[in-house]
Amino acid sequence: IEDVITGWDGSLVATRYDRETGAFFVVAIHSRERGPAAGGTRVKQYDSYADAVTDATRLAGAMTLKMAAADLPMGGGKAVIALPAPRRELADDHWRRILELHAENLKTLGGSYWTGPDLGTSSADMDVVCGFGAPAFGRSEAAGGSGSSAPATALGVHVAIVASAAEVGIDDLAGCRIAVQGLGAVGMEVVELARKDGAHLIVTDIDPVLCERAAALGAEVVPPDAILGVESDVFSPCAVGGVIDVDVARTIRTRAVVGSANNVLTDTAAGDELARRGIVLAPDFVASGGGAIHLIGREVLGWTAEEVATHVEGIADTLREVFVRSRVGGISHDHAARDLADERLGRAGSRV
Ligand code: PHE
Repeated sequence: IEDVITGWDGSLVATRYDRETGAFFVVAIHSRERGPAAGGTRVKQYDSYADAVTDATRLAGAMTLKMAAADLPMGGGKAVIALPAPRRELADDHWRRILELHAENLKTLGGSYWTGPDLGTSSADMDVVCGFGAPAFGRSEAAGGSGSSAPATALGVHVAIVASAAEVGIDDLAGCRIAVQGLGAVGMEVVELARKDGAHLIVTDIDPVLCERAAALGAEVVPPDAILGVESDVFSPCAVGGVIDVDVARTIRTRAVVGSANNVLTDTAAGDELARRGIVLAPDFVASGGGAIHLIGREVLGWTAEEVATHVEGIADTLREVFVRSRVGGISHDHAARDLADERLGRAGSRV
């Protein structure tokens, strides 16, 4: 944890352990250069509280890059709630109390961090957090919010898949082999969109019910530990991060990596190895920007659904710029995207 603390370049981490609920809360504010920090609330069990802090800080840093790459007037932040038991085992009033405490923590931060849905949280949860007076994007439409960010995230991933496939010479997704890891709200929608284009889908999830649903859509299902060994044209990680380390980068049989999972690479060496092998990488903070574009577009900038869709389609232009910078500079796609985000970071655009 010392390395995480001293190695982090963000601005603030707040933590709280609550004995009564057994929940551990972390809010990490990485940057407010472009506007108030924003990023979702991730809820799951962690092996240790140090892991929870590590996850929150890394994810907050990724949000800063995501906002800058999408040219949105927000900074980067993230919240993590480490649960004492799996979410489905928590009684409703226990979960509600956890959300109430979370809202209390967020209110203490006085608007410098805005939360939203993420892995393990929904629009309904945002309704509750907001009901307790904390700033939250992605409430249900009935409660005055813009609803789930998942469909826009999936659309952005789809746009990124098309642009990345074109970069490796595939101009049509018909017959293209796409391996999708994770069939949550985003992954399942990525499957549906690619299926409409006639792609051949190979999918996996730890939840057999979700696998059955994808199989009914015509996808080939493989066990979770087999997906990294599948031969594909596009590998789409849509579950947790950290799936590509140097070893995986050296052995994975794919031509492009494009997904919604945040922090897919364990380190820059993994990105360099993909580049060395000529595998296209759509950097996650670019490819997964659709959700942020939807939430901030609708709720801060007053965009219509059509304007959101246009901006989400702009992810393809950002990616093409990344590919060109990579070629010109002789640097990896990951490196090129970070440079681009850094430049946009300098161009602060606070309108809120
Ligand atoms: N958690 C999602 C993401 O990381 C959606 C989100 C974006 C939530 C911005 C809050 C703010 O993109």
